[in-house]
Parts: sequence; structure tokens; C-alpha cells
Amino acid sequence: MNRLLKAAAVAATAIFASGGAWAADCPVTILDPFDLEGDDIDSIYDCMKDDLVAGYASQGSKIAENYRNWTVTSTRMGVAGPHGSRLLLTFANSIGAEAYLKFEEEGANMPVGSVLAKESIKIHKKKKMAVPGPLFLMTKVAAGELPDTNDWRYDALAPSGKVMKIKQSYCHNCHLGFEDQDYMGYPLEELRLKN
Ligand code: HEC
Repeated sequence: MNRLLKAAAVAATAIFASGGAWAADCPVTILDPFDLEGDDIDSIYDCMKDDLVAGYASQGSKIAENYRNWTVTSTRMGVAGPHGSRLLLTFANSIGAEAYLKFEEEGANMPVGSVLAKESIKIHKKKKMAVPGPLFLMTKVAAGELPDTNDWRYDALAPSGKVMKIKQSYCHNCHLGFEDQDYMGYPLEELRLKN
């Protein structure tokens, strides 16, 4: 990174860190995420989407800088339950998009190099705000490379763009339940964008 870019990145971090408040905070009236209708979810996303990606990308993650140009996999964010009852939206990179969008329920097998990036937004009940959640990532590595997690690597970026310390087993123990789907949970059925 050249010096100017670095300075800009530091400035961006300072803005995001200032006052403990997120530029991206958006007020909500419905506090139970499961009660949100499609329109509510769309307006929350509209309010937050620019600051969400700016936060993820503010520490130089190449994935965070690029995933919005990948293939979006559902019509809008969904509230599935796992991942802290957050609103979730998954993007697939060019290697993985075609296979992911089949949403195969048996014998799914993602190509090596597939990356899935899932944005998340949390409804903060006390603050009555929608606040940014982590960017969750799954990367398919070469066969045999990560036997404990069936060759998936799990990562997460905090809303500030910082790499989060996560346990592979924490993520995979739940994703293990989706064995026939190559360990992917997929978006809510009614929201899936098929090929
Ligand atoms: C309690 C169960 C559970 C845990 C723990 C969990 N996940 Fe998930 N994950 C799911 C479910 C269910 C979905 C699909 C729901 C959706 O995206 O709407 C999913 C979807 C995903 C996706 C989108 C790709 C896909 O599977 O369709 C990514 C990326 C992801 N999780 C990463 C992670 C990471 C990283 C961790 C650990 C920090 C983690 N998950 C922990 C249940 C879990």
C-alpha cells in the first residue's frame, strides 16, 4: 500500500471508531427480526449497505473490497435463525457461483477456490437500531488440506474490517449438519435466486 492510501485507510478507521457510534446505525421500530417483512428488510439494507461494505473493507481485505461484485444468491436478506438471528445475505465468487446457485440438496460439491461471503446485520433491541454484524466467509481449499473441516476454511471480519478470532470447529460443528449440501446452509428457500 502506498503512503497516501495508507493514510486514507487510517482516516477511514478513525471515522468508524469515533464516538463508538456507527455511521451505519439505522433506527428500527420492529425489534424482533423474525417479525420483519420484506419491505422492512429492504429499507434496513438500503440504509446500511454502503457503510456496511465500507467498514468491512476499511482494513484492506481484498475479499471485502470485491465481494459486492460477485453473484448475489438471494432476492434480499433473510433471517434464518442461526448466525445470531441476524439478517443475512450471501455472495458467491466467480468460481463458486454456478455450483452454489444450484442449491443441491444431495451430493453438492463446490469447486476448489469457491468463496462465499455472507453479510450480516443485527437488530440491536436496546438501541432500537439495526447495526452491522460480521462478514462471514467460507473458502473451499484443495482436497485433503483441511480434513477436520471437510476442506472448508471459515473466516470472519468484524464490522470494523478487523479479522475476528474464530474457532474452525465452532463454525463447522453446525455446518456439519449440511453434509449432503457440501456443508452449506443456503439462503431461506423462498429467497433463493436460482440459475
Ligand atoms: C448454529 C449453526 C451455525 C453456526 C455456528 C455457523 N453457521 Fe454459518 N450458516 C448456518 C446456516 C443455517 C446458514 C444458512 C442460512 C443463511 O445464510 O440464510 C449458514 C450460512 C453460512 C454462510 C453462507 C454459505 C452457506 O452455507 O450457504 C457462510 C459463509 C457461513 N455460514 C459462515 C460461517 C462461519 C464463518 C461461522 C463461524 C464463525 C459459521 N458460519 C457458524 C449455520 C451456522
